[in-house]
This record gives sequence, C-alpha cells and structure tokens, in this order.
Amino acid sequence: MAELVLITGGAGFIGRYVARACLARGHRVRVIDSLIEQVHGSRAAPEGLDREVEMVVGDIRDTDVLSRALRGVDSVIHLAAEVGVGQSMYAVDRYVSVNDHGTAVLFQQLIDQPVRRVVVASSMSIYGEGLYRDADGRIIEDVVRVPRARPGDPWDPLDRQGRPLVPIPTPESKRPTLASVYALTKYVQERLTLTLTQAYGMEGVALRLWNAYGPGQALSNPYTGVLAIFASRLHNGQPPIIFEDGEQRRDFVHVEDVAEAFVLGLEHERAPGGVFNVGSGEDRSVSEVARLLASAMDRPIAPEIAGKARVGDIRHCIADISSITRELGFRPRKDFSRGLAELAEWVARQEARDRVQEARRELEARGLVA
Ligand code: UD1
Repeated sequence: MAELVLITGGAGFIGRYVARACLARGHRVRVIDSLIEQVHGSRAAPEGLDREVEMVVGDIRDTDVLSRALRGVDSVIHLAAEVGVGQSMYAVDRYVSVNDHGTAVLFQQLIDQPVRRVVVASSMSIYGEGLYRDADGRIIEDVVRVPRARPGDPWDPLDRQGRPLVPIPTPESKRPTLASVYALTKYVQERLTLTLTQAYGMEGVALRLWNAYGPGQALSNPYTGVLAIFASRLHNGQPPIIFEDGEQRRDFVHVEDVAEAFVLGLEHERAPGGVFNVGSGEDRSVSEVARLLASAMDRPIAPEIAGKARVGDIRHCIADISSITRELGFRPRKDFSRGLAELAEWVARQEARDRVQEARRELEARGLVA
C-alpha cells in the first residue's frame, strides 16, 4: 500500500538512494534535512535528490519544522545523524545532540502525531568488536579492544594465552559493546525507536548497517566512510592513508542494497520489533579495498600505512546477514568489483577537495590517533 514516507536526513548519501527506492515502490517521499556544510558543502539545494521528493530544509531538533514535516505522514525512515566515529570522540556534544536529542525530539512529536512504522538506521558500530573464534574453536563474544602497549605488538586481539582470535560473522544476538560516542548514540537511537514505537502502538524496526559505499558519497567530507576518503585521495593524486596495518576487516555493502533493506524494513510484515544486520555478507580488509579501488580508478598509487589507530575504532566486525535474509528475503545484489567500477566512474567526473590531512590533524591534536 502506497504511503507518504518522511525520510529524516534524506538528502544525504544513503537517504537519496532510499528516497529513490521508495518512489520506485510507489510511495510518496518527503525529506527533512538540515543540509549541513560538512556533507553538502555550500550548496543551497541538495544534489542528486529525485525531483518528485518534497524537500523540507530544517533540523529535526526544531519542533516547528519537524511538526510541519510530519503532517500527513504514514511512516518515517530515520537517517538524520552525524556519522563519523573518529569525529564523535571530540565533537561529543554535537554527536549526542544531533543523534540522540534529535531522535528524542522526533519521538516527542510522534507521540502526538503517530505513524504506522518507524525504521531507524542503526550501525554495526554498536557491537564494538565483532564475534571471534579462539584457537580451540570457542566463540568469544566479549572481546574489548585495548590500545597496544608497544609499537611492535599485534593489532589483532589475543586470547588469555596470547593466541590470535579469528573474526567470524556477527549476528544480532551479540551483546553491544559501545566503544565510541558514535556507537553509544546509535544504540540510543535504536532503543528509543524500539521502546517508544511499542509504547505508542507504532511499529519499530532497526537496521544495523555495515559500511555503505557507492556513487554520491560525500567525497570532500574527510569524516565520511573509508572508501570515499580513499577515492578522494586517489582522485587528487595522493596516497590513501591506512590506519593500523590495513588488515582490519569490514563488510562493504553497496548503497543500493542498503536502500533495498530499508524498503523491506518499511514494508515487510515480519520486520516490526526487529533489529537486522545489513551487509553484503562478504568481508574484506581495508588494505584490500585500497588496492582494488586504486586499480578500479586506474591510479596506481600505493597507500601509506599510518601504523596508528584511531581511538574508538574497532579492529574487526563482519556481518552475519542470515536473519534479514531469512526473515525479510534480503539479497544483496551488487557485486563488489562492479560496485567499485561504478564508484570509480562516478568519482572521475567529480571535483573532490582533499581535506584528509585537516581531519587527521584534528584527531592528532587531541591524542586520538595512537
Ligand atoms: C562507518 C560509518 C558509520 C557506520 C559504520 C557502519 C562513516 C564515517 N562511518 O564506520 O557511520 O555506522 O561504518 O559500519 O561513514 N580508515 C583508514 N583510513 C582512513 C579512514 C578510515 O584506514 O582514511 C579505516 C578505519 O580506521 C577503519 C576502517 O577504515 O578501520 C573503516 O572506517 P570508516 O569508513 O570510518 O568506517 P567505520 O568506522 O567502520
């Protein structure tokens, strides 16, 4: 059944794809977005947003604007958030305010103007370290990352006997370990959504996203995801800077697949009350993606290995997507090499300001890279 869907933060990278996917399903889409400079530059109008989308420019913490944006809305997809793990460790008040107070204001309003369903973008960051297996085959759930004592120490977590632990796919049942301010705020968003939708007769769904990538990522935002940062560096003839040793593993999921997951979260009868991992189901190291991207962009520039970690970063977390696959029929479609080729094609047509050193200095000045 076609609905009017409000997408908060809908002018952002993921939001624009979600908007398009909702329109393709016959929904009408309204977006509320404050068009922050860090993401949108000095542009007054969002780039790449479908013309059929009704745009409300404003901050979700502004009750008047929000109340107007909610008028007549059937369901909400809540994406408005600050997204940088590293930046969250020093811009603490901004992250807590936008992500958590913002969500609180949204729900305060939804109490008076309830909707059928709210789907919130949570994050794999809430797991902290993912699940591991030790040398005896035991599953280890509660790995907490400790800073390395000496420069030569291994980056990978070890068991009590000093043996390396091997990362394995992390299911939704893993206990959260909130290792950054960002993770903390995402968990609060998720819980606010599930608790308040249930209390007020609405349906709530939380999607825990892994690392989304694709054309349209904010290339000049040095706090954006690693693929966009690397793409911007390579595009400017600079080597990507790899934290740690580059062997940390993530799951890179194409933004079109993420958008599909949001449509399922919005429409599927088995979604309410659920939390679902959203990834591609394949994991890769950061070094590997730097190499593959350089080759897709035809920029044979070797990365620089920083040998330092960003405070708040986790070492490995890879996705177990069996729940969303089983319950909602989610099937990631975009092959990684095809996705990278399309990203490379798109980047070649962009202008990207390389502000990565600026961002690195911000972290270093506060002792947040070590
Ligand atoms: C990212 C998202 C977060 C989302 C999460 C879900 C951003 C800014 N963060 O966090 O919103 O919830 O995915 O999975 O999009 N790295 C480098 N060099 C760089 C930048 C990063 O080596 O220049 C490394 C990091 O140290 C980390 C990995 O790349 O090990 C991924 O970093 P990043 O893209 O920032 O993603 P997450 O922290 O996983």
